[in-house]
Amino acid sequence: MTLPPGFLDELRARVPLSRIVGRKVAWDLRKSNQAKGDWWAPCPFHGEKTASFHADDQKGFYYCFGCHAKGDAVTFLREAEGMGFMDAVAVMASEAGMQMPERSPENRQRAERRTELTDVLERAMRWFRMQLQTGAGAAARDYLASRGLDQAGQDRFEIGFAPDQRQALLRHLKEGGATEAQVVDAGLAARPDDGGAAYDRFRGRIIFPIRDARGRCISFGGRAMDPNARAKYLNGPETALFDKGRNLYNLGPARAAVAKGQPLVVAEGYMDVIALVRAGIEGAVAPLGTAITEDQVRLLWRVSPEPVIALDGDAAGLRAAMRLVDLVLPLTGPGQALRFALLPAGQDPDDLIRASGAGAMRALVEGAQPLVDLLWLRETEGRVFDSPERRAALERTLAEAVARIPDPATRDHYTAALKRKRYDLFAPARTPRRERGPGGKQGREPAAGPPLPQTRASRLVAADPGDALIEGMILALCARHPALVDQVEARLERIQPADAGRAALVHDLLSGRTSDPGRRALDALLSDPHVRALPAISQPRTFGDEAQAVLLNALDRLESRRTQRDEIARAEAEIGGLADEGLTWRMTQSARARQHADHPSLSHDGDFGEDREALAGQLAEALRNEIWRKPGR
Ligand code: UTP
Ligand code: MN
Repeated sequence: MTLPPGFLDELRARVPLSRIVGRKVAWDLRKSNQAKGDWWAPCPFHGEKTASFHADDQKGFYYCFGCHAKGDAVTFLREAEGMGFMDAVAVMASEAGMQMPERSPENRQRAERRTELTDVLERAMRWFRMQLQTGAGAAARDYLASRGLDQAGQDRFEIGFAPDQRQALLRHLKEGGATEAQVVDAGLAARPDDGGAAYDRFRGRIIFPIRDARGRCISFGGRAMDPNARAKYLNGPETALFDKGRNLYNLGPARAAVAKGQPLVVAEGYMDVIALVRAGIEGAVAPLGTAITEDQVRLLWRVSPEPVIALDGDAAGLRAAMRLVDLVLPLTGPGQALRFALLPAGQDPDDLIRASGAGAMRALVEGAQPLVDLLWLRETEGRVFDSPERRAALERTLAEAVARIPDPATRDHYTAALKRKRYDLFAPARTPRRERGPGGKQGREPAAGPPLPQTRASRLVAADPGDALIEGMILALCARHPALVDQVEARLERIQPADAGRAALVHDLLSGRTSDPGRRALDALLSDPHVRALPAISQPRTFGDEAQAVLLNALDRLESRRTQRDEIARAEAEIGGLADEGLTWRMTQSARARQHADHPSLSHDGDFGEDREALAGQLAEALRNEIWRKPGR
């Protein structure tokens, strides 16, 4: 129905937004400024105790700073009270004391047709329910009993039965006054392509009525009892009333449960929802035979800021979870998150509850992992990051995923969370956290598996005094000039420190925290005269300007030395147990010759162990001198 021009504006001008919204929320009168029409309340769209929901009578708009719900009075009536557009307008009109305009004939017709379809569906629902009590329904009753669905459960979910007959429902509905066209339009009967007589869509199946958020029956799902049936589940087709991608099974009751503090849990199927509800997890919903759509995710967020997706822990379930990760990343933000409860492989919620009880299911829901964990799992699970290229590829993939998040603050938190995970994965096994408690639980286990080539390389590195010194200078520079850490964090993560103390220091630098082993390592560095040979370390204020160039230079140097060592280590690994001293020596020589050519100033590279004094002086000199060359190029 089309409203006369200006009708809505007139309504908005006459009815203050706060009058509509105030029927649903409790204003925070201390935070609100009533005289100015400036209102605040705990948000009705997401559970919260603070008042982050703002309504502005002047502008006629509301906005929630927590979940970003926004709109005008009509939007509010539709989304907070589940009204249709016309119902919302009618409520506004009665508040304003205005007459609703006459409906146009075609609009009235469409509304009538929908009401007729709803009536047909409700009558079908009652008939299905009755069939379950007949002789023909005996097998269905046995089946339901075998799945643990007692009478109370059947009543609550209005379970029915469609007998295995071609036209029993059609005949019943026609006798009650429905036309064949209505039965077809309601999705209950189908006309064969050859123009033959219409026949019942659901035959020989257990029937699950599907209701919309307002409780109107809009379609059915049917489960075959015959294990050899062509489709285990059959859902009604899309109709004027039923849009599969915009509805969820059990949404109405779930919303009520969430309003009482229950989590919103998304399962895969009808039987899972029923099992969850019967286990006391009443905020359970399921999509309707299709993968979860963007519309459904938005629908979920209108009910809860953080729905829990409960998925079968097998490959198919994980694949579904990953599709959802991709779907949701561009939508996520404050008040719009997802969590994932991964079930044991091969079990859906129904199976798990039957096998291990409601408590096991509740524990899984409570321990559900945030989306960022799934993203990490997808990119790292079962893979080995044993080369700089692979690590770089991982970094790029993760960065690309994070770049799809629209909200800057959320994006930053993803970056930080993924950085911690990368650090924990790439850090050498001897991280400080693990040292603290032998077998204790504080330390996250490093990735299991055979020792990686770079672990061997890092052992070589640690033994090299030249590398250890440059590394120490890098760490001390970062500690003295913390503002530089952000620019070099990826390189710092890859540094593979020579000992546990330094590993702790790297962790402190990256995380902005301070740990005891980290502080001890830093103290040791700052009191080492060789490290203090760099003015940017010993006099950070005076020589602050050169710190960045010195740091970058030192990192370049350390990395190029290590790349060469990695080559040697990999060659060693390749020849395995038959390590040929001669070959190693020859490679070392050639690598050094190359390095010498690149960096003539480090002419004694490799022989540094002899004289640390000289080495430190030379390094400090080299690191500083090169900065003066940089601006020139
Ligand atoms: P599942 O095959 O996982 O079934 O389908 P289930 O829910 O565990 O069912 P039971 O326990 O064997 O009875 C999950 C959901 O996928 C849709 C249905 O919505 C089902 O609930 N589905 C499944 C279909 O639409 N068609 C099918 O043939 C199978
Ligand atoms: Mn199942």
